[in-house]
Amino acid sequence: MDTSKSHKLFEEAKKFIPGGVNSPVRAFKSVGGDPLFIARGEGSKIYDVDGNSFIEYIGSWGPHLFGHNPSFIIEALESAIKNGTSFGAPTSLEVEMAKLITELVPSIEMVRMVNSGTEATMSAVRAARGFTGREKFIKFEGCYHGHADFFLIKAGSGALTLGIPTSPGVTKGNAADTLIADYNDINSVKKLIDANKKEIAAIIIEPVAGNMGVVKASNEFLSSLRKICDEENIVLIFDEVMTGFRVAKGGAQEIVGITPDLTTFGKIIGGGLPVGGFGGKKEIMQMIAPAGPVYQAGTLSGNPLAMAAGYAALKHIQDNPAVYNELESKGKILEDGFKNNLKKLGKKFALNRVGSMFCMFFTEQPVNDFKTAITSDTELYGKYFHGMLERGIYLAPAQFEAVFISTAHSNDDLEKTIAAHYETLKAIL
Ligand SMILES: Cc1ncc(COP(=O)(O)O)c(C=O)c1O
Repeated sequence: MDTSKSHKLFEEAKKFIPGGVNSPVRAFKSVGGDPLFIARGEGSKIYDVDGNSFIEYIGSWGPHLFGHNPSFIIEALESAIKNGTSFGAPTSLEVEMAKLITELVPSIEMVRMVNSGTEATMSAVRAARGFTGREKFIKFEGCYHGHADFFLIKAGSGALTLGIPTSPGVTKGNAADTLIADYNDINSVKKLIDANKKEIAAIIIEPVAGNMGVVKASNEFLSSLRKICDEENIVLIFDEVMTGFRVAKGGAQEIVGITPDLTTFGKIIGGGLPVGGFGGKKEIMQMIAPAGPVYQAGTLSGNPLAMAAGYAALKHIQDNPAVYNELESKGKILEDGFKNNLKKLGKKFALNRVGSMFCMFFTEQPVNDFKTAITSDTELYGKYFHGMLERGIYLAPAQFEAVFISTAHSNDDLEKTIAAHYETLKAIL
């Protein structure tokens, strides 16, 4: 494969952009090699600057539920752009968007639009702190909630010890208020609550984790969290930046039938433009300025182009509820094909899938939390990634990311992917 133009661009990029990229995972660091520079996307395919084409499963890390450039989103953008790109004043589309979100996700009584998933999670925790008057919160090891300081904390070995910053630049003060529990382990949560009585404002969780590969929280675990939060007056936040409008119209909360107090959104909610949102119970959301004292703002929040693209995506979902049956059956085809390949090769790698979110871990241990996820052989994943790429399949350049299937993936795409999976594994194992 000729990648000389990408290589040249990457060398140039590294002179002006830290690491040559504007978000770390794009740099291919965990799989080796240089990233490809993408020229355009169409449906299930992307085309790089050297003219190579790939069936791809990143979907811009989640937003592209309908593949690249769906006509209904492009038309909505073309129509909106004629009226101006930004006003910093209310528009009717913001009202339509907020109403539509409350129709699609019943737990949302009010919603505030922001510009990224990070802003959404950061603001949701601030709202919970303002509402409860408490400062600490619990997150789970292996869950990612964006790059706000207080999320970049990893626990020490004892779950009851104070967190240690994962990144330089995050202060000990920030770390002290972040408590880390184990995913799918209710006792680890109970211990933290007992040790920090009436000090915990919120518990934030990805109800289907997509940032340690794909790992589903059990229904039992999530209902126990709901119960504890009710008993202890803790705000339960579902981070559905990735799962929102992907695993079901109403997100993961619809599948498990558990109602969080607040929910955060991103990715699909922007139809490919930079958007996030957070919402939930009116009594908490009324705390947000200017309705209440908890400050939250954004120059470009509710931007008309972003709202036009996001509204088009969500309206399409509302008008075509069968989208999720289609995604489920496409996900099942891929899962069954991969399972069949593994059987032929005598391997029992863990395969976790929820609808159109999918992950094959290079470990034969079942994966249900961070500790089991990291038993994966990441070096082997690197070989698998490059083998798939050479065969025209573009996967996430890191083991602990999800494969995202879109409605644009055809049966032919899926068959080609399954065939490449077999050939690649046969070559590298
Ligand atoms: C679950 C979850 N929360 C929050 C974020 C942060 O979103 P953003 O990258 O838009 O800031 C991500 C990003 O991948 C995510 O997967």
